[in-house]
Amino acid sequence: SLSHAAEGEQSLARGPPAFVFDIDGVLIRGRHTLPQAQRALAKLYTSDGSRPRYPICFLTNGGGVTERFKAHQLSEWLGVAVDESQVVLSHTPFRQLVGQFGNQPVLVSGRGQVWEVAHHYGLRQVVTPRQLVRHMPAAVPFHEDQGLFPGGDLPVYTRELKYGSPQHPIKAIFVFTDPSDWYRDLQLMVDVLTSGGAPGHTCLPGTPPPEVFFSNPDLLWANEFPQPRFGQGAFSACLETLYEKVTGKPLKAHHFGKPHAAPYLLAEQLLLAQAQALGLELPEGPEAAPSSSGGSSMQHARMPLPFSGIFAVGDNPAADVRGANAAGAPWVSVLVIKTGVARANCSRDPAQLVVDNVEAAVDAALHRTRHA
Ligand code: G3P
Ligand code: MG
Repeated sequence: SLSHAAEGEQSLARGPPAFVFDIDGVLIRGRHTLPQAQRALAKLYTSDGSRPRYPICFLTNGGGVTERFKAHQLSEWLGVAVDESQVVLSHTPFRQLVGQFGNQPVLVSGRGQVWEVAHHYGLRQVVTPRQLVRHMPAAVPFHEDQGLFPGGDLPVYTRELKYGSPQHPIKAIFVFTDPSDWYRDLQLMVDVLTSGGAPGHTCLPGTPPPEVFFSNPDLLWANEFPQPRFGQGAFSACLETLYEKVTGKPLKAHHFGKPHAAPYLLAEQLLLAQAQALGLELPEGPEAAPSSSGGSSMQHARMPLPFSGIFAVGDNPAADVRGANAAGAPWVSVLVIKTGVARANCSRDPAQLVVDNVEAAVDAALHRTRHA
């Protein structure tokens, strides 16, 4: 058990290590689980794989499924039991916005089961770009489904569009995951923004534009293709550019996902809860933990973290390393350079530890902790 480990190893006096793993480019690559990932996790779990021996979180800028489903996938891929309380997805921080938008019409975009995830979180008045297209096909004349309507006679969808009408305007746009049809979504989002939330209708003067929330700022990410691929950050750059070109005003969007603070604060809460469940003694006192990063927005209301290090293992300097460095001690940024986006440490976002792959990261973290 953890307390056993702490007793047995004098070097763990300042607390055990905790681990935060990125997923794409660290544990998996496209459809393939990296063999080093299974070996790395085996070193951190009991020998039957049923229980973690250290606090462990999975922190990804991916999503499109519930936290519970991602935990189930990770368990299959890694051969150890992962619980939903160990998972922070790109859209997990959207839960904090349900109090504000739960009973307001919202546009939800992205691949995967995003409509279901939005409902699971408590967003009750969700409309998707696909539903908008079915009601107003002329809004997207280059959309390939237009071929389904021969002769140019566009069918009028019989059921009335409820959310997104002038009576029920869309109040917010949530991009849950990387959309697949950028043309469709960019066109419809600009329509929603410039119509006060009722695409196809004239915006009444003074109507504020709906708010926009992106879950993931990654310009690039790594799948099985040799070169990095466009991520949601590339999509948001397009929307911001198009909105500004159309309206002459900048789009004031909200960005979540690594390297922003929200997912790190969630991960800290999950790690603390695991530390408690594992029987680790927590330091007392509500004072904020110091951050090595200076004026970071993360310094508010943080619990002292009873870990010798929170080893954040990632492949993307602009996401994983920047986020961990901004979070400050006891976070330790660890960059893998053989399996993901990066091939070397990066001077803009330098990692504290640079290793080939996730197994080497775990070895280095355990070694460092034992010899601290
Ligand atoms: O779409 C997911 C991608 O942008 C990054 O995923 O696991 O490397 O944070 P991850
Ligand atoms: Mg990654």
